[in-house]
Amino acid sequence: MSTQSKVVVITGASSGIGEALALEYAQQGFTVYACGRNQAKLDILSEKSANIIPCTFDLNDKNALKNALPKDLAIDHLILNAGTCEYIDNPKQFDGALFERVIQTNLIAVGYCLEVWLKQIKFGGQVGLMSSSAAYVPLTRAEAYGASKAGITYLAKTLSIDLEPQEIGISVIHPGFVKTPLTDKNDFDMPGIIEAEDAAKAIFKGMSKSTFDIHFPKGFTWTLKVLALLPFNLWRPLAKRMIKT
Ligand SMILES: NC(=O)c1ccc[n+]([C@@H]2O[C@H](COP(=O)([O-])OP(=O)(O)OC[C@H]3O[C@@H](n4cnc5c(N)ncnc54)[C@H](OP(=O)(O)O)[C@@H]3O)[C@@H](O)[C@H]2O)c1
Repeated sequence: MSTQSKVVVITGASSGIGEALALEYAQQGFTVYACGRNQAKLDILSEKSANIIPCTFDLNDKNALKNALPKDLAIDHLILNAGTCEYIDNPKQFDGALFERVIQTNLIAVGYCLEVWLKQIKFGGQVGLMSSSAAYVPLTRAEAYGASKAGITYLAKTLSIDLEPQEIGISVIHPGFVKTPLTDKNDFDMPGIIEAEDAAKAIFKGMSKSTFDIHFPKGFTWTLKVLALLPFNLWRPLAKRMIKT
């Protein structure tokens, strides 16, 4: 079946996984609405394919979000990928402002996007929510990031139940480590890290098959899924050893 006229909206398309996703979808013949804040990066991206339309706005600005896309745009795939990661280095001096920043962009802004764009998803369309394998098990220093992503996973599960009668499919995406500007900042070993292009291919395949839980690379994510079955008291002493700084 041709995907020539299909439309995908991708947030966080100016960098990393989102940028690779925009190029993958464009190559597959979709018209890609590539969203981000960095106009210069989006302009460079749109020069790589005539199928890519740049949309510059901050997802935390509700008014900008409301006017970002044509109101009559019928969307086949929506991928809410944009996100940020900051770690809590000193839990006793808990940084409430950091916590708010991360939850705002990774979780609350996803709610804003759903409010505006869910009604524009076509019958039989697919919505992908970007979580993380950090949502499977509590990881050290990830109080804010992990909480935001655990919230996304819960949100995806409930939406999947409630939107089934409307024929809108939900995918929740649980990557392991992917090499991007976000992970380039990490100061610890990242087992099984993959390239953004490989992540984009796995996400495209999963979205196209309406897979609910899109997770990769499988060796890493299956290990975490099995560890998540442990009682928390057994997991706690292992948690610090998982990520070596
Ligand atoms: N990389 C990994 O290992 C990994 C693993 C699991 C999950 N994830 C998730 O995958 C997603 C993409 O991550 P990445 O690694 O590709 O990171 P990245 O290269 O830093 O890209 C993040 C993207 O999000 C956009 N963004 C952030 N805040 C925004 C805001 N307020 N408004 C609009 N756009 C905003 C950025 O746009 P601008 O640059 O234009 O501001 C950028 O395009 C994130 O949700 C992340 O949590 C990543």
